[in-house]
Amino acid sequence: MTVCSDTVAPAEATAVSIYQAIGGRAAVTAAVDGLYERIIADPVVGRFFPQGVAPKHRAYFITLFGEALGGPERYRGPDLVKAHSGLGITDDDFDRTAGHLVATLDSLGVPGHLADQIVGIVAGLRPAVVTA
Ligand code: HEM
Repeated sequence: MTVCSDTVAPAEATAVSIYQAIGGRAAVTAAVDGLYERIIADPVVGRFFPQGVAPKHRAYFITLFGEALGGPERYRGPDLVKAHSGLGITDDDFDRTAGHLVATLDSLGVPGHLADQIVGIVAGLRPAVVTA
């Protein structure tokens, strides 16, 4: 599966203003860092990152998230299905992570209607991430 054409690009057309509306790359970076903090602090999904979050992983996520929200970033990292296959991530893990994303966006002051759209875009990645 090619992530960019199958999962990220379709959202891009409707999401161009989201990237700008939340404050561009600085806001995307803050959102990713806030999300990771919450993931690591959560024993349920934090267990997937026993060594913490590697800088490469953080950079991939910022790029992918930026592209998905309509920014100029272009993700060229590992295929998402391959990256998650065998990790045993459940729907519940995905839901918890999405909940952490909502809380992060709220704490950053992202308006609810934009947060809803962002979560909707991320929800489209569920089939690539949930493997159990
Ligand atoms: C929409 C949601 C998600 C996106 C965009 C995403 C993105 C990514 C990307 C780009 C990679 C490859 C990074 C690399 O190889 O360094 C990756 C790997 C990984 N993801 Fe996700 N992910 C998502 C959801 C999740 C969830 C819900 C979990 C677990 C709760 C998870 C756990 C992992 C783990 C454990 C790896 C391997 C990390 C490593 O090797 O350091 N991901 N993810």
